[in-house]
Amino acid sequence: MKGVILAGGLGTRMHPLTRVTNKHLLPVYDRPMIYFPLEALVAAGIKDILIVTGGSNSGDFLKLLRNGKEFGLKHLNYTYQEGEGGIADALSLAEYFADGEPICVVLGDNIFENGIGPAVHGYPGSGARVLLARVDDPERFGVPEISGDRIVRIDEKPKDPKSTYAVTGVYVYDHRVFEIIKGLEPSARGELEITDVNNRYIGWDALTYGAVDGWWTDAGTFESLARASNLVRDKRLAELEQDASAHSG
Ligand code: DAU
Repeated sequence: MKGVILAGGLGTRMHPLTRVTNKHLLPVYDRPMIYFPLEALVAAGIKDILIVTGGSNSGDFLKLLRNGKEFGLKHLNYTYQEGEGGIADALSLAEYFADGEPICVVLGDNIFENGIGPAVHGYPGSGARVLLARVDDPERFGVPEISGDRIVRIDEKPKDPKSTYAVTGVYVYDHRVFEIIKGLEPSARGELEITDVNNRYIGWDALTYGAVDGWWTDAGTFESLARASNLVRDKRLAELEQDASAHSG
């Protein structure tokens, strides 16, 4: 399976923080945001990775990540999204890279405490797979309506959420995803929506889901960026404590 990180868009929601840099290069406690999805893909065993970026600071990704040696990679692939046509628009740029194989897509502003294993390892080999997390503010996300053990539809940022789950920003797709994207129309916010892609797979009864392992957060608003930094800080401190007690014991 190949990996795709979507780090395009213009980050206008986060001005002035993103006026002279890309949102995914902002710090989350001790690392730039883009490190988290990249480390998550590598930890799930995915080594062939494409980063979709955009805006006027895209060259900085190359300066920061180079060929990915720091992450145990021999090579990294990059491509450029013009403007901010939406998550599915950014993903459409990965068609040539995917070359017919399944892909694991991670949004560049998503952080998973214990990685994305339940998405990658639970993928049945075809169709789509998403991961759900329980949240206090489902109206900010794609929200699944669940019946029995199936997701029957996903609503993007609903005023009246049908569950207290969010569809997180990790998706596994087969090659059909690119045909779906070609048939999409822009939503009311002028974007090609990933939720429309997922609903198409639901219509084919070809979408499975798992639950995130540990906490999950996005980091694409001031509030969630602060929350992400605190969660990562707590995790680092817990790891340091564990190390110290392992060495003293
Ligand atoms: O974080 C999970 C949520 O992400 C899902 O629950 C939603 O269903 C999904 O639509 C998305 O919602 P957001 O409104 O939070 O997405 P946002 O516009 O913040 O974009 C998230 C990432 O996707 C962003 O960090 C980079 C990438 N992206 C986004 C856009 C609009 C692109 O690469 N290109 C784009 O044009």
